[in-house]
Amino acid sequence: SGHVNNVILSDIKKPPDNVYHSGPFIYSDVLNHKNLREIVVNNNVSWLVHYSAVLSAVGESNVTLARDVNITGFHNVLDMALEHDLRVFVPSTIRAFGPSSPRDPAPELCVKRPRTIYGVAKVHAELMGEYYHHQYGLDFRCLRYPGIISADSQPGGGITGKAPWSVHNGSLKTHQTTQKPRRKVDPLRQAIAESWPMALEDSTARRDWGWKHDYGLPELVQAMLTHITPGNLLAQAN
Ligand SMILES: NC(=O)c1ccc[n+]([C@@H]2O[C@H](COP(=O)([O-])OP(=O)(O)OC[C@H]3O[C@@H](n4cnc5c(N)ncnc54)[C@H](O)[C@@H]3O)[C@@H](O)[C@H]2O)c1
Ligand SMILES: *[C@@H]1O[C@H](CO)[C@@H](O)[C@H](O)[C@H]1NC(C)=O
Ligand SMILES: *[C@@H]1O[C@H](CO)[C@@H](O)[C@H](O)[C@H]1NC(C)=O
Repeated sequence: SGHVNNVILSDIKKPPDNVYHSGPFIYSDVLNHKNLREIVVNNNVSWLVHYSAVLSAVGESNVTLARDVNITGFHNVLDMALEHDLRVFVPSTIRAFGPSSPRDPAPELCVKRPRTIYGVAKVHAELMGEYYHHQYGLDFRCLRYPGIISADSQPGGGITGKAPWSVHNGSLKTHQTTQKPRRKVDPLRQAIAESWPMALEDSTARRDWGWKHDYGLPELVQAMLTHITPGNLLAQAN
């Protein structure tokens, strides 16, 4: 439909074929100010949804690059938004909370003193967006995502990657042995996961923009099991 062409997807790396063919796709490096400006001007862009980042697996070995892309890239996006009157969305994370934040539930507004560079960078982004809103009237939106869980893509190596593996492996073992799968806990990942919020206080989202969840834990696991195909399982095991 015509609406598909209203959204331009961009990255510095080639997308999978199905993504490439799903709508307009262009190269854009968030560190290149001139490139960003050209794209905004030439396409009459009005909203900017900013997802670029360098993930921890890479970020650990190249902190400078991760800092540049995550923080300087975000500053470039803010500049562009002010210059061209764009609305901006930037995802934050539950990692913005720290050990002194209440955990169950974590309120929207509370002490946030994260001890990871990732969390610190995200608190910075949240505060910068709020500041630009109050100072310059920027339309800035931000959501603190928990770990994103997917059934149909290769789960990542991070802590959240553990969740799809647990379901995939549990289902794999059940298929192979028809026995109940046993749970092995990785103490390091478990300790990190236990420092995260148990639940998020989301009443303002429910009130302000009608947010409601469709999936609880049982629905989530069921959906993942439904979408796991034998081919997918093989890919996971390799
Ligand atoms: N995945 C999660 O569970 C999760 C949870 C909370 C928040 N987030 C946030 O969502 C955002 C995206 O995360 P993701 O999991 O989709 O990561 P991802 O690695 O899948 O996507 C990041 C993209 O940024 C691109 N990129 C890297 N350098 C770039 C540059 N210089 N210019 C333009 N693009 C560049 C990468 O090629 C990659 O496609 C991040 O801000 C992350 O903090 C993700
Ligand atoms: C950059 O963001 C990614 C996630 O998007 C995170 O894993 C990484 O730790 C961050 N690094 C820095 C330096 O902010
Ligand atoms: C899941 O199974 C794969 C393939 O056998 C294995 O490499 C991986 O370590 C397992 N992961 C977990 C979390 O059990």
